[in-house]
Amino acid sequence: MDFKITTLPGDGVGPEVTAEAVKVLEAVGKIFGHSFKFTEALIGGVSIDATGSALTEEALNTCRSGDAVLLGAVGDPKYDDPQAKVHPEDGLLALRKGLELFANLRPVKVSPFMVNSTSLKPEIITGVDMLVVRELTGGLYFGQPKKQWKDNEGRKAVDTMSYTEQEIERIVKVGFELARTRRNKLTSVDKANVLQTSRLWRQIVTEIAPDYPDIAVDHMLVDTSSMRIIQNPKYFDVIVTENTFGDIITDEASMLAGSMGMLPSASIAGIPTKGSKAFGMYEPIHGSAPKRARQNLVNPIATILSAAMMLRYSMNLVKESEAVEKAINATLDVGYRTYDIMGEGNKKVGTKEMGDAIVSAMK
Ligand code: IPM
Ligand code: MG
Repeated sequence: MDFKITTLPGDGVGPEVTAEAVKVLEAVGKIFGHSFKFTEALIGGVSIDATGSALTEEALNTCRSGDAVLLGAVGDPKYDDPQAKVHPEDGLLALRKGLELFANLRPVKVSPFMVNSTSLKPEIITGVDMLVVRELTGGLYFGQPKKQWKDNEGRKAVDTMSYTEQEIERIVKVGFELARTRRNKLTSVDKANVLQTSRLWRQIVTEIAPDYPDIAVDHMLVDTSSMRIIQNPKYFDVIVTENTFGDIITDEASMLAGSMGMLPSASIAGIPTKGSKAFGMYEPIHGSAPKRARQNLVNPIATILSAAMMLRYSMNLVKESEAVEKAINATLDVGYRTYDIMGEGNKKVGTKEMGDAIVSAMK
């Protein structure tokens, strides 16, 4: 089959890790007889440098014209000034909103190779396999009013957490559907003891639950869940939660796996059911790491795993997706490691060599 992929390499280490994922996708195309056509566009700091905007309408339209988007990273210290008119991160938010990527999937799976590189006890994290489904286009990130102003009492600021029932319903359904493809357990995370949006959220989860009698549902407050993620992470299968809570708990959960360099993500515009294809954007969860850029240093596995998620969710190429995951495990199995996951007796490799080794393992 033929697919069109827009690549947005972005800033810092983004171009290096994106190149490795493209290399792996090209190998998948050859082995399984598909054609992937790549079109590159700008996002983040490099886009601000070139156009003054972190994401142009033209780049957004290029993304819309393809089957999926592969993103590297955005962020450049040169634009860190909070007073600045435009930030690289604005490009990411505009992309999420502009493509209606309302469902952000962040799997956290601790591979046996990683058990010794995390700061938690091996018995706590061995076997952890959770998926956080984060709402991505609502809540505090986008709610209005959202502003800073000054009156005779001084400076003030407001952000608004707002949700409609449709927004909650569609993300909760993503959680239920994905629980069905895993261990049939869904934990809805909210702050229903304080927030109205969370009370509505909890009601809607309870209303939808009877449509999924095969799924065990529970509700957990976000503060409790932050504790439980560290204390007993194996408790979780699928977590579904709103935008800001999801932002925070996914950084927390990523630490279970030891390195951000291993964790992929998908942001999709539909409810994934068996055999369906949803438009989506795929990116590693790590940032642009500008200090580590252009040294052939960083771990490309998070981006390559993101490409595997693309094969699964936007192209329904499940076998191909599994082949990529297997090749990654085989490469780790023979001891290849980038600096972030080095252990005793391993063979240290750079970004490119890791990509090449994964391609060879696939053949
Ligand atoms: C993430 C990031 C973004 C977010 C930033 C870069 C805007 O932290 O993808 O989790 O807060 O959503
Ligand atoms: Mg975040």
